[in-house]
Amino acid sequence: MMGIEWNASSGQLHLHNKQVSYVVRVLENGSIGQLHFGAPLARGRSYRHLGRAGFAGFSNRLDDPIALEYPTAGGGDYRMPALTIEQADGSSMLRLDYVSHRIFPGKAGIPGLPSTYVEADDEATSLEIELADGPSKARVTLSYTIFRDHPIVSRRVRIRNGGTSRLRITTAMSTSLDLPDDDWTLVQLSGAWARERHITNRRLAPGRQSTASLRGASGHEHDPSLILRRASTTETAGEAYGFSLVYSGNFLAEAEVGPFGTTRVRLGINPEGFAWILEPGADFATPEAVLAFSEAGLDGLSLAYHRLYRERLARGTWRDRARPVLINNWEGTYFAFDETKLVDIATVARDLGIELFVLDDGWFGARDDDTSSLGDWFVDRRKLPNGIDGLARRIEALGLRFGLWIEPEMVSQRSQLFAAHPDWAIGIPGRSRTESRDQFVLDLSRPEIVDHLFAVLSELLASAPISYIKWDMNRNITEPGSLGLPADRQGEFFHRYILGVYDLYARLTTAFPEILFESCAGGGGRFDPGLLAYAPQAWTSDDTDAIERLRIQWGASLIYPLSSMGAHVSAVPNHQTGRLTPIGMRAAVAFFGVFGYELDATSLSPAECAEVADQVAFYKDHRELLQRGRFVRLRSPFEGDGNETAWMTVSDDRRQAIVGFYRTLTRPNPGVNRLRLRELDAALRYRVTTWPARADTIERDNALVRGGDELTEIGLFLDVDRHEVATHGDYWAQLFVLEAE
Ligand code: GLA
Repeated sequence: MMGIEWNASSGQLHLHNKQVSYVVRVLENGSIGQLHFGAPLARGRSYRHLGRAGFAGFSNRLDDPIALEYPTAGGGDYRMPALTIEQADGSSMLRLDYVSHRIFPGKAGIPGLPSTYVEADDEATSLEIELADGPSKARVTLSYTIFRDHPIVSRRVRIRNGGTSRLRITTAMSTSLDLPDDDWTLVQLSGAWARERHITNRRLAPGRQSTASLRGASGHEHDPSLILRRASTTETAGEAYGFSLVYSGNFLAEAEVGPFGTTRVRLGINPEGFAWILEPGADFATPEAVLAFSEAGLDGLSLAYHRLYRERLARGTWRDRARPVLINNWEGTYFAFDETKLVDIATVARDLGIELFVLDDGWFGARDDDTSSLGDWFVDRRKLPNGIDGLARRIEALGLRFGLWIEPEMVSQRSQLFAAHPDWAIGIPGRSRTESRDQFVLDLSRPEIVDHLFAVLSELLASAPISYIKWDMNRNITEPGSLGLPADRQGEFFHRYILGVYDLYARLTTAFPEILFESCAGGGGRFDPGLLAYAPQAWTSDDTDAIERLRIQWGASLIYPLSSMGAHVSAVPNHQTGRLTPIGMRAAVAFFGVFGYELDATSLSPAECAEVADQVAFYKDHRELLQRGRFVRLRSPFEGDGNETAWMTVSDDRRQAIVGFYRTLTRPNPGVNRLRLRELDAALRYRVTTWPARADTIERDNALVRGGDELTEIGLFLDVDRHEVATHGDYWAQLFVLEAE
């Protein structure tokens, strides 16, 4: 059962499904109080006693720790507000009073912004609560959706100017949630280029703790999300809340512990540098915040996000399709290639079973290095005399599909586009523009520039048999400002930029529904739910080192499904770390995602070719499980000494599973090691095989038929004979394939 209950006598609204309840109430003074979000509560009851009668600040008792649904400043709640609007008289206080509400089946979209959706109205129920501030005439609509099958409530807000003078919004959070205690550990996914989404834990302390972006992109540094868990919460037990923003621009994710030991979580567009002018009658929509709750540990949160984001955020032809095994030439050739070289790589790749050849950076303008030509999206005939079309047809004739790299949002100073339109690059008149990677960012807040890109790129995509696009974005914004906006609207620039990116994505993916789009931003610099709505997969990191990828993919898996994570095998020494890992280990890590290669296939030795052919065949055999299975984290690279990592993926019917075990440094004379599995069917018996197949203790101990109960309670045997361990060396990976009899 899922629905939204309205109790007129207590003014209570209860959003409920089997897994969560979200309860708010119209307080006596007209504001909306927050009573509960978390474990499911019985329907048909009043929870009025869980909240105070009204926000006491409005009756001259300041600082009261009441939980408010969409708090504003100026009325005695001194914690950070969710909404701030500067008004004609220069004040910015608001007091939002209940006007009405509406409950309806299904879920509405947000014009211009990506959001989760339903395919049938019975998948979700939605609520809109109308609020109004008297003096400013601001009207605020709080929108909620509860999904039938997920422990998730999504929230967003629309603000409308119902008056006759201008309003200027300076803070408009997508969600604010007041939790009744502060006994939480904040989990964030943070890092930098080549080491994205590492897990960081910190205990909440009084005051504000946050992650944010001011880069014009969600960024490598922090994921646009925030997770709270109890100190005792593990993967499989204990409470956890997730807050994830469907947005790709500047965000703020914050937890604030107030003076009475309560916790306020805010998530939305970063108020820093943001100001939006609302003319009379105009409205503004915030991005969607997706709130999840689990009583079954972090695993419960991840499961909820994986399912919702894979099935009801990603969309289009490729959402449910098996994704091709690709080979990308970037690390294989960098800028130094010609048609012959590419066809040679593709020919070897075809023989190894690879399905898609992707031509990366360097095919356009006169781009022999990264100092020129971005913006000139026409082929460089010196390298490719037969054009993209000629190359793509040769690749297709080999039996592979063809894919292409673009970086639409950029312009090089040395380019025809910049010569023709120097004013299209983002900048502030009177200030010099900062170059990064020798490039500027085009001002996608201006519709005419988005129109130009759409025209040029749709001509390119229609000109050749292109099956896949890698859409890169390799620098962040400096000197933020737009010539397309008047002085008083410059605060709208960053958000309008992202709206322009979404518009271009929407138009191209609609015009070319058969093309698979993969998003990228120097690896994981814009790996977020916003872009997942257009591109169902993203390049997780430029770092393809198998050991580094264990942490990156583990961290990303807290929120993102396997089907969204591009993961490739590259050459060694690794180009980011110089590390030498066996090719089998590189594959065993990259299998858990959307698999491919990032190397010059013509330089593989015969032995490596044999291994690659075996890897590709293995991945294809288990593709459904490896792209869409239920991902379960078993042993964390972030805990203990981090030397061992293990994870698994299980089919929905629990009849098949693949377990990955990875050891970074070898240990002599090792002790007993059992790896207990999860999500298997206790009543089934599973045939266990090892990959790669081997004639050793691991094989002897595990290649058996064993019960799901036993594998769960006792586990796989990872004890290695002390003589054999010397043959493994460092960087050892072992996969186990489980098939129910
Ligand atoms: C970024 C991407 C890489 C590659 C290069 C090309 O760094 O993340 O995969 O495409 O750009 O310049």
